[in-house]
Amino acid sequence: MRILGIETSCDETGVAVYETGRGIIAEALASQVELHRPFGGVVPELASRDHIAKLSRLVQAVLAEADCSPGELDGIAYTAGPGLIGALMVGGSFAAASAYALGIPAVPIHHMEAHLLIGKLEADALEFPFIALLVSGGHSMLVDVQGVGRYRVIGNTLDDAAGEAFDKVARLLNLPYPGGPALARLAESGDPGAFDFPRPLADRGLDMSFSGLKTAVRRAIDRERAEKNGVLDAKVERNIAAAFQAAVVDTLVAKCARAVTETGRQRLVIAGGVGANRKLRQDLADWGSANGVAVFYPRPAFCTDNGAMIAYAGAARLVPGQAGPPGVVARPRWPLDELQPPGLN
Ligand code: KG4
Ligand code: ZN
Repeated sequence: MRILGIETSCDETGVAVYETGRGIIAEALASQVELHRPFGGVVPELASRDHIAKLSRLVQAVLAEADCSPGELDGIAYTAGPGLIGALMVGGSFAAASAYALGIPAVPIHHMEAHLLIGKLEADALEFPFIALLVSGGHSMLVDVQGVGRYRVIGNTLDDAAGEAFDKVARLLNLPYPGGPALARLAESGDPGAFDFPRPLADRGLDMSFSGLKTAVRRAIDRERAEKNGVLDAKVERNIAAAFQAAVVDTLVAKCARAVTETGRQRLVIAGGVGANRKLRQDLADWGSANGVAVFYPRPAFCTDNGAMIAYAGAARLVPGQAGPPGVVARPRWPLDELQPPGLN
């Protein structure tokens, strides 16, 4: 089975072809970072327009690289939500129209499901059930994953998501958009012990809250600036980045540990953009080997948004012989635990 996957939920146009038994055979990603940088964040209308401008050529290039004609595809998977409505509509319309013309199903995919399933493509040993730590720009979630479409959300975002906290603190430090990766780079050369930031709710429950931590960082920055006539010393900046990153990572490790203890699961997968964070990967791997828990993480390029995860989820969801839903499915808000196993929704 060959599936074309299309991701357009936010600021990356991602396209890939997945073939069962072979894996991802071609993929491409067009980033909109330069387009949005002057605005310090994603401008939804610009995002939609850029998806329109890039998508068709990207699909042609990926099909050519895969040596696959459109007629050899068995289905077209696309991100149907959650995400920016205009951006979702671009990928959804393209997928639904192409699938209709080819007489194959269009398969609407939940973006967060794609994030949590891609770990399975990366490691055969990642069998169900497992715990997924899903940390992206819009969500921090802990999910008990029992099978495709069988998700129990056991911990959720109470306010700012982990990636959002990275992005907001990066802005406080005047780092260029996109802030998260820039902040993580700065943190590598800082001293995490130089500031003692809170580990929010690390000692209780599975829900996650990062807005108080962001406020603590803002106060520290204001204090340091006030002491130095409004200028933030470069070393202090690095230390703040490192101490903030350590606080987020410690909190996420504590939450994962509690999720594993409470559910008795023995496998943990890190997913979503923040899953690309080196310190998070290292600390969770160390915790896993000390506690007999197998920790999996996709390669960094499969943690951040990409077309491969949509193609792979499409293959997991496509039921041979079953038509896709009529029209375009686009759901800006879409709770993960509304999903059902393939064929049931
Ligand atoms: O999954 P993703 O690419 O898009 C969403 O679905 O939201 O996640 C993007 C988020 C952004 O907030 C970005 O700052 C964060 O992931 N991120 C990182 C790193 N790379 C991306 N956060 C910390 N360290 C990184 N290396
Ligand atoms: Zn994402």
